[in-house]
Amino acid sequence: MLEPTLREVLRAHERILPFIRRTPIFSSRTVDRLTGLTVHFKTENFQKTGSFKARGALNGILTLLERKPTIKGVVTHSTGNHGLALAWAAQQIKLPCSVVVPCNTPAVKVEAVKAYGANVQLCQIDIQDRHTLCEKIADEKQFEIIAPFDNVDVIAGQGTIGIELMQQVPELEAVIVPVGGGGLAAGISLATKLVSPKTKVYMVEPLGKELGKSMKAGRRMWEGPPARVNTIADSIARQQLGEITWPIVLKYAENDVLSVTDQEIIEGMKFAFQTMKVVIESASATGLTALLQHKFQHLHTSAQNVGVILCGGNVDLDQLPWQTNLSSNKET
Ligand SMILES: Cc1ncc(COP(=O)(O)O)c(C=O)c1O
Repeated sequence: MLEPTLREVLRAHERILPFIRRTPIFSSRTVDRLTGLTVHFKTENFQKTGSFKARGALNGILTLLERKPTIKGVVTHSTGNHGLALAWAAQQIKLPCSVVVPCNTPAVKVEAVKAYGANVQLCQIDIQDRHTLCEKIADEKQFEIIAPFDNVDVIAGQGTIGIELMQQVPELEAVIVPVGGGGLAAGISLATKLVSPKTKVYMVEPLGKELGKSMKAGRRMWEGPPARVNTIADSIARQQLGEITWPIVLKYAENDVLSVTDQEIIEGMKFAFQTMKVVIESASATGLTALLQHKFQHLHTSAQNVGVILCGGNVDLDQLPWQTNLSSNKET
């Protein structure tokens, strides 16, 4: 089984720490009162580029450079946080970077990637076209592809959140992690369990992903080719976990998976803006909303000190979900 060791995660932390933010822990008395718990928010929405993705992307590049100092550049395809993070990470070490984005990507996102100095390549909307162009660039320019989640070094980078969290709140009994392709959940569950075996890691998903079914069966239960869940939480809309991330979460995370609806996500997001005064994106609201809706408490866990990963804060202010009420279901 392909998984980073604890040593590799600790090494990843040393490697990326000069560049990233050691994000603070935020707490809210109102949240504690409403949930009946002591909640510790890990604020990756304040991370460089506005999401935790900066950690994995940077560790992916730096590890690659240590192994192969002659690499000429990096490439990925993404319209979301991973593309932004890879562009930023490459800029930190002055390495050329290309990001393949579909032609319907909002201009503001394309500009953000360009602002980090990356070369943006437009492609057709369908996913196969993105892969093909990404591979073509890798081939022609001799660039390395850095995958968004199914990459051991990226997983180790995301695992650094677990290391920091356990240093910042050693008494933590449970952690709630949003899950898309599973890089964040794999990294955090692995690091947390290896540092603190008594701490439980729970994943939270948009309703329809049905990860709990696979976790309980101990095998992948999704049928057909990889699909996307119809949800406003676009960065975690991918239904299936990766080939590398899946066995890791199966080994280290709890079988009980929390599921939240779009309406609940909207309420969680509004609550964060209005009451906590914190800007978070839809995926980031899933953990908070699972607590506010008492879904976590219904798991009958005795955990009192609970960590929640606020994974990102990249919100399109012209597309706030309670204003548009549209299910965007975009690719990340
Ligand atoms: C803000 C945010 N949260 C969560 C995720 C899910 O991460 P993963 O695909 O590693 O599960 C993503 C992925 O793009 C993201 O951008």
